[in-house]
Amino acid sequence: MPDIKIMALVGSLRAASVNRQIAQLAADVAPDSVAVTVFDGLGELPFYNEDIDNEADVPAGVTALRAAAAEADAALVVTPEYNGTIPAVIKNAIDWLSRPFGNSALKGKPLAVIGGSQGRYGGVWAHDETRKSFGIAGPRVVEAIKLSVPLKSLDGKHPSEHAELTANVRDVVGKLAAEVS
Ligand SMILES: Cc1cc2nc3c(=O)[nH]c(=O)nc-3n(C[C@H](O)[C@H](O)[C@H](O)COP(=O)(O)O)c2cc1C
Repeated sequence: MPDIKIMALVGSLRAASVNRQIAQLAADVAPDSVAVTVFDGLGELPFYNEDIDNEADVPAGVTALRAAAAEADAALVVTPEYNGTIPAVIKNAIDWLSRPFGNSALKGKPLAVIGGSQGRYGGVWAHDETRKSFGIAGPRVVEAIKLSVPLKSLDGKHPSEHAELTANVRDVVGKLAAEVS
């Protein structure tokens, strides 16, 4: 049984998402003591709405997200950049995870943001803004963990075929796990 559980949130819903592949790579290269699990339900979440954020009306998908977050010791966001900022799927997850106000299921837990995008800076705007927003929502954002991958550099190959990227992802998982007290 792993000592440390990391929930991964992926900012792209498409089946062939390279960011999803990077999240899976994080799971594959994690040491035996660390389990990285991709939360699969972000596409099922409705837009955040305070009117349904109560015990009687909260959607099952939100309960599942909050339960996975409560179960996790840390979180890893793996996201592309959309139009210069955070994809809506991640922003929506941040909003759901930011409530109950002051008592997020991720409250105080370490969270790191990485990912890749087609642009030459690898989506760094989205990564910076995801750190900023999650930093307000409850988790403890680990600013020092950074990895923004220009996807063109992968030449269409799977992330796992790139030794340097694989090493960098392994490093990210190790550093995030080390933040768990
Ligand atoms: C709606 C949309 C907006 C995008 N905006 C950006 C952008 O601002 N910067 C960038 O580098 N790439 C942008 N891209 C390209 C993505 O980086 C590229 O599609 C990437 O492969 C998405 O990650 P995925 O493979 O995990 O789906 C955009 C793509 C889409 C679909």
